[in-house]
Amino acid sequence: MVIVMIDKINILNKKVIFVGGKGGVGKSTSAAAIALAAKNIGKKVLLVSTDPAHNLGDLFHTKLKGEPKKVEGNLFVMEINSEKENDRYIASVKKNLEGQVRSSMIEEVHRQIDMAKTTPGADEAALFDRITSLILEELDRFDLLIFDTAPTGHTLRLLSLPEMMGVWMDGMLERRRKTNENYMQLINDGEPVDDPIFKTLQARRDKFSQVRKVLLNGEMTGFLFVLNPERLPIQEGKRGIDTLKQHGIPVLGIVVNKILPDEVDGIFFQKRKIQQLSYLKEIDKLFTGIPQVRLELLDEDISTPLHLKKVSKKWEELIC
Ligand SMILES: Nc1ncnc2c1ncn2[C@@H]1O[C@H](COP(=O)(O)OP(=O)(O)OP(=O)(O)O)[C@@H](O)[C@H]1O
Ligand SMILES: [Mg+2]
Repeated sequence: MVIVMIDKINILNKKVIFVGGKGGVGKSTSAAAIALAAKNIGKKVLLVSTDPAHNLGDLFHTKLKGEPKKVEGNLFVMEINSEKENDRYIASVKKNLEGQVRSSMIEEVHRQIDMAKTTPGADEAALFDRITSLILEELDRFDLLIFDTAPTGHTLRLLSLPEMMGVWMDGMLERRRKTNENYMQLINDGEPVDDPIFKTLQARRDKFSQVRKVLLNGEMTGFLFVLNPERLPIQEGKRGIDTLKQHGIPVLGIVVNKILPDEVDGIFFQKRKIQQLSYLKEIDKLFTGIPQVRLELLDEDISTPLHLKKVSKKWEELIC
């Protein structure tokens, strides 16, 4: 593989990296190759796939689960599945309510919770909850967490969740606090009430604000955009980077993947190369100031551990 290196991307001193971009541009292969490269350089790495259509297992030729699995030395890989996370989340909510709800009510409460499970966005929220826990719990165990994400829109919504959930939860906490105050004055002889629901909400609120701090901290966290020299991936990259900027999430760099090699010949490829050249110029213009690396299209898919090894060797030169 020939790499057309332009800049090095600052990855090794980060703690959390998200790899995003349009469908099929090369997010999973880049995330996996970077993870392997960082491991080879001496980092202890956890690579997490959050994409419902996983293929990291194929790439490492191993069966992955919802918990970190050691695949090679200090490289651990896992896949999280939003539906399973939703099941898990709902089970934990039910468990938390045990002993807090009158037994005559429990059936109705469980029915309501089961309904909440099927509302739009519930899988996403549960997925985000897991990502949040992973970031907060695994940061100490690993030097670097790399998230291979689903196509852009989904990921950006996910990253803006802590902000939205924060506002929503503040509202809930405030209402709960007022109820408790009334209760305290009217029934509890002015004594403060011990409210487990308030405590649960507060703990969740704290968890989200903690993760938000990590996401917005440019020293620790960054987003890597993968795109191809084609119109739609470029547009999506531009939109994505603008949105990340709005949310204050730092962008580490862009990976321009699948560039046609110089040695391609024939009128068909010559024509495509000319078009590609103008897209590359556009990329330079649109993403000025953002570190950029360029990788060529290989003559075969990157689908085996051996292919991955080759690409990751190149990545060892591209990250610092
Ligand atoms: N530089 C490259 N040369 C040749 N093939 C590549 C290159 N980069 C990626 N591919 C191939 O392109 C396909 C898509 O790559 P990959 O799965 O990494 O993309 P993705 O962005 O993760 O896709 P999805 O959005 O479906 O998750 C795969 O078959 C992969 O082997
Ligand atoms: Mg993928």
